[in-house]
Amino acid sequence: MSSPGDSGKTAQAEAWLRYFEDLGLAPFYLDRASLELPAVPVAASSVALEAASVAGKAPRAQDALPIIQPIAAAAPSLFESVERVEGDTLENIREFIGECTRCGLHKARTKIVFGAGNPRAELVFVGEGPGHDEDVQGLPFVGRSGKLLTQMIDAMGLSRDDVYIANVIKCRPPENRPPEKEEMATCSPFLVRQLAVIKPKVIVCLGNVAAQALIGTNKSISHFRGQWFDYRGSKMMATYHPAYLLRNPGAKGDVWNDLKKVMAELGLKPIKPKPRSV
Ligand code: URA
Repeated sequence: MSSPGDSGKTAQAEAWLRYFEDLGLAPFYLDRASLELPAVPVAASSVALEAASVAGKAPRAQDALPIIQPIAAAAPSLFESVERVEGDTLENIREFIGECTRCGLHKARTKIVFGAGNPRAELVFVGEGPGHDEDVQGLPFVGRSGKLLTQMIDAMGLSRDDVYIANVIKCRPPENRPPEKEEMATCSPFLVRQLAVIKPKVIVCLGNVAAQALIGTNKSISHFRGQWFDYRGSKMMATYHPAYLLRNPGAKGDVWNDLKKVMAELGLKPIKPKPRSV
């Protein structure tokens, strides 16, 4: 049974498909079909869509979540030539976010967790969203999961100051529930801009939510962790979230294998044997 809202959503989806076809991006659908990934970006920014429709303009491609192809695909990254925010900086993005009230998460948050680390990092880790400790301190991955992530980074021969760490959503969901689609859609364009500014060589998505946002799939991460994707010219891989590892220590070996691929890509050699805790 379709509801009245469905026809509006269908019309919106059709408008997006027409827009991407106008941009010459039709082959993308074929590539994604072969990957069994969804045929349209999972979370276009509702804010951007709204702004575009108010202004009577087509939505801008950079307001959609990015389109991903496996590295092995013949075609180059399809969004390479798409308009970007000229002269953007992390400071601009933070200022643009302001004391955000764009979604309901602002009601219970203590601090916005923008991201932290080296603005010129070659490696960016993307998590889900702040938990209690992050909400209090305004910094990403500073709780129990954060300690484990720090150990993982150390084991790679890096420090937290060498990398950049950010999340898909910047405010803590109540009771640490998973972020809702609408919250991800509202917040993820800021992450997209952060990544466009930093232009890392490698992006590691930590867990399903980051993978959903950046790879655009609802499949469980176990199906594609450790595989390389192209994200606007950066290599991107998903691996298990440190919180999952705290509950399932047996999966640490898988994560370490994934991180070794990242190290090889960055030309890093392990400076110490794999610690027991990773
Ligand atoms: N989990 C996340 O995904 N991000 C954080 O910043 C902390 C915990």
